[in-house]
Amino acid sequence: MIPLSIPHLAGNEWTYVKECLDTGWVSTAGAYVGKFETAIADYTDSRFAISCMNGTAGLHTAMNLLGIGAGDYVLAPNLTFVATLNAIAYTKADPLLLDIDVDSWQLDLDLLESFLAERTEKRDGACHLSADGRRIGAIMPVHVLGNMCDMDRLLAVCGEHNLPIIEDSTEALGSTWKGRHAGTFGVFGTSSFNGNKIITTGGGGMIFTQDETLATRAKHLTTTAKTDPLDYFHDEVGYNYRLVNVLAAIGLAQMEQLPGLIERKKKMDAFYREQLKGVGDITFQRVTDGVDPNCWLFTFRTDRMRELLTYLNDCGVQSRPFWTPMNQLPMYAGLTYVTENHQAKKVHETAISIPSSSGLTDQQLQEVVDTINEFYNG
Ligand SMILES: Cc1ncc(COP(=O)(O)O)c(C=O)c1O
Repeated sequence: MIPLSIPHLAGNEWTYVKECLDTGWVSTAGAYVGKFETAIADYTDSRFAISCMNGTAGLHTAMNLLGIGAGDYVLAPNLTFVATLNAIAYTKADPLLLDIDVDSWQLDLDLLESFLAERTEKRDGACHLSADGRRIGAIMPVHVLGNMCDMDRLLAVCGEHNLPIIEDSTEALGSTWKGRHAGTFGVFGTSSFNGNKIITTGGGGMIFTQDETLATRAKHLTTTAKTDPLDYFHDEVGYNYRLVNVLAAIGLAQMEQLPGLIERKKKMDAFYREQLKGVGDITFQRVTDGVDPNCWLFTFRTDRMRELLTYLNDCGVQSRPFWTPMNQLPMYAGLTYVTENHQAKKVHETAISIPSSSGLTDQQLQEVVDTINEFYNG
């Protein structure tokens, strides 16, 4: 099987993990947590980076810190991984879904702009849904596959309507908009180091913020809200969302390799785009002008997605379909849906991800292309 997106552990992972094991610093305390946070903050030019156990926990924490809870809404795209909506559900707020742009697969900013202008009002310094007066506590743009929407426009429209941004930048580590890193635009941004991501810690996450008070609060809330180094005194209901030292050690080793991994991903992306252009009815995700994407996972659209999926997997080319839109999942089907243009559905029904693991050889990439050509041209 040519693997879809598996970890590439080719640096100091063994050395750093061995050090954790040799010294016994495997758990929630230890130097690698801080080292990993500093490495990622430096790389992304984020003032603060706070590690946590996964991307979902990062999103949940960000909403908690904005005081989002029962009675609030949070705006999110209909096309995302389920964790985005689950994190909203954990706070007891209700998601409001927006459709996506069918070419870039990011939030449709025209829809967002008209929704905010026509269906919301500003009150007490916050954005409220006019229909029922409930607060919209945040918007959660998802940088799907490391692409982004026009961030200048997003910041302007959200600023105008007093709508805080929490970036679900879990897939976009290393992606930039006009030179600025994904995750550093919003009040909060997030990263995921799940096994299939551009770097991995097995499971892990990071919260980005540029605000010192929020950074201190994020560390406090994710580490059981303990106020005293000695006494077990906790001043609020905190979470045990910590990333453990042994995983942070893997993370630091992965960060050392990130520039090289992105370079390789970009070459793979360019190869696929060149080789698959004009093959069958294949169309590519449009990268938004101004975005330099991390090219994490190559995904394209074809009306014959289901047939191709079966064919590739049968031929040993691991491939997978794209997310089911959130309003088609049973627990989110009854939501107040803001705009339904059926674009998320269209992308879901046609998009297919193909092998993008950093360790793939040029020969394996050629095999993927040959197999796709065989499917369309016999
Ligand atoms: C768009 C999106 N949001 C949220 C997450 C959640 O991250 P994690 O799996 O680390 O909890 C992921 C990744 O899995 C994701 O792709």
